Amino acid sequence: MSAPADPTAIIIGCDHGAVTLKNIIVDFLRSLEIEVNDVGTHTTDAVDYPDIGNQVAGSVSAGAYQRGILLCGTGLGMSMVANKHPHVRAALCNDLFSAQLSRLHNDANILVMGGRVIGDVLATEIVKAWLHTPYEGGRHQRRLAKFAPPRSET
Ligand code: RB5
Repeated sequence: MSAPADPTAIIIGCDHGAVTLKNIIVDFLRSLEIEVNDVGTHTTDAVDYPDIGNQVAGSVSAGAYQRGILLCGTGLGMSMVANKHPHVRAALCNDLFSAQLSRLHNDANILVMGGRVIGDVLATEIVKAWLHTPYEGGRHQRRLAKFAPPRSET
């Protein structure tokens, strides 16, 4: 996959458990003039969440996108799949505090939420917090460095 021109572009995907929420978040991101690559799914027909999760997390892992969003019914399956990918730090955040801390302390590059767990308004607030909260670095960088080798060594 070729990298988007805009480094702030976001790749987003969901399974059938979160199509409505995904569409709301896509509209919200586009209202902020953020470039969005919506890889689906686009209907409520059942799909296997690892197929979408691997596509989004693979793109972030490869550096094609700096940030991604994944949604499924609970967020659990998507977060498990995404965190198998090198350089991916996927955070399941169904509350605002976790979303803020996932950026401040964990430099989360994929936000995961559960479409059957949270409502649209809270989800949008979580996306806002996740977009606008910076990574603190410092002592947290030492900890992140223990996750895996840096990108150039893999
Ligand atoms: C699909 O029914 C459901 O299992 C999925 O959306 C997700 O919740 C998995 O973790």
